[in-house]
Amino acid sequence: MAQALGRRQFLVAASGAAVAAALPFRPARATMPDVEFRLTAAPGRVPLVGGGHPDTDVWCYNSRVPGPEIRLKQGERLRVAVENRLEEGTTVHWHGIRVPNAMDGVPFLTQRPIEKGATFVYEFEAPDAGTYWYHPHQNSPEQIGRGLFGPLIVEEREPPKVDRDLTWVLGDFRLLPDASIAGGFENRMEMAMAGRVGNTVTIDGRVPDKFSVRAGERIRLRLINAAAARIFGLEFRGHRPVVIAHDGQPVEPHEPEGGQVVLGPAMRTDLILDMVGEPESRFQIVDSFYRNLAYRLVDIAYTDEAPLARRSRDDLPRLPRNTMPDPDLKTAARHAIMLGGGMMSGMGGGMMGGGDMMGDMMGGGSMGGMMGGGMMGGMMQDGAMWTINGVAAMGHDLKPMITLRRGSTALLAIKNETAWYHPMHMHGHSFRVVAQNGKPTKYREWRDTVLIAPRESADVAFVADNPGDWMIHCHVLDHQEGGMMAVIRVA
Ligand code: C2O
Ligand code: CU
Repeated sequence: MAQALGRRQFLVAASGAAVAAALPFRPARATMPDVEFRLTAAPGRVPLVGGGHPDTDVWCYNSRVPGPEIRLKQGERLRVAVENRLEEGTTVHWHGIRVPNAMDGVPFLTQRPIEKGATFVYEFEAPDAGTYWYHPHQNSPEQIGRGLFGPLIVEEREPPKVDRDLTWVLGDFRLLPDASIAGGFENRMEMAMAGRVGNTVTIDGRVPDKFSVRAGERIRLRLINAAAARIFGLEFRGHRPVVIAHDGQPVEPHEPEGGQVVLGPAMRTDLILDMVGEPESRFQIVDSFYRNLAYRLVDIAYTDEAPLARRSRDDLPRLPRNTMPDPDLKTAARHAIMLGGGMMSGMGGGMMGGGDMMGDMMGGGSMGGMMGGGMMGGMMQDGAMWTINGVAAMGHDLKPMITLRRGSTALLAIKNETAWYHPMHMHGHSFRVVAQNGKPTKYREWRDTVLIAPRESADVAFVADNPGDWMIHCHVLDHQEGGMMAVIRVA
């Protein structure tokens, strides 16, 4: 860093053109960020609910929820100075971006926490286009749960043609009637089940009113699930969204299964949404993931403007592929990853019907009955309730569970032996989801977070080309904090 700053000062002191001409080589790109940001993590107060309700005390970046959108072009270099004005240490993780290990923002593993009053400068190139986000990696259930998260968009060098490129950061808060955030983070009972699911869903930090669109327009909608625990299953009534990317990575354009766009915590999906309704018509976007608890997220409200010419479904944009090497399964070394722990994991899978568990819980099903004695399946010491390969991780300073030779291909066979959903995230790499429940996937989609249903499995493959110690963990933040994380070393 000192070196980088030195070079930069030099360039500022001399005239840029003269320097470029005089030097035998162009200055290393590494010394000059293309985009610079300053993020200040601090308490703030924002109108989450609106409509005459009081503002909400939050923790946030630059006084807003979500934090400012960081936007750059593929291949550009980003420098972000993060100042901590919280009462506790923090870090920033650049979720999904293949950064050098020292920039990954994992406290005690890749850096020391940024203490109160201190500033840490992150700097890296964005090798791949896509929809990403940033958030703390310390005391995550509370820091993210109180509003510390923001979008990070890396544009393609030639972005596909659309009328609007929109980002929705989906949030989920547990609010009291006065719109303040309920305390009681890391409640043990919740931690051992679905995690802290809130009662107030926000789009870009506001309880949404309506989504205004013009008839005929084609929208690229980038969805980011920044919730601590909530899984979304979005249906766009009257419309047929087409998925073009998962977790920032291009995928063969396709309509989502059953018309429902499913996003576990930390997952992103880019959609092409052709606005096929008539002027002044209205449609609902419904979140029906937890079947007994479907609710209207927001209305699509068509303006009275004259329709734009309809776009043809034959001319759906295709995103250019990103830069990660394709894993060759023939040479892949297989590693089993078993997810264990939590409530009721000792029971047979028969009674767990997809999202119904959550619905039963929140809809006032028989909690007592489900939580009778002995259901914690070997419940452990101090907050440790979730495991990877039998080990509950306490804190981030972990010995590697698996070591991969740099450049080798790994296949992680992840088996969820619990009664709960787990969105499993790997740092430093994107992987291809090559099989689900032993069956090859249709799209072999690239992702950095894969949602695994109770008792199900996913095989993911990647080339371990980014050296360092990388987290693999569940992105239900209560599960992560409760032990469901591990380190994979690439050396
Ligand atoms: Cu989005 Cu380890 O994090
Ligand atoms: Cu989990």
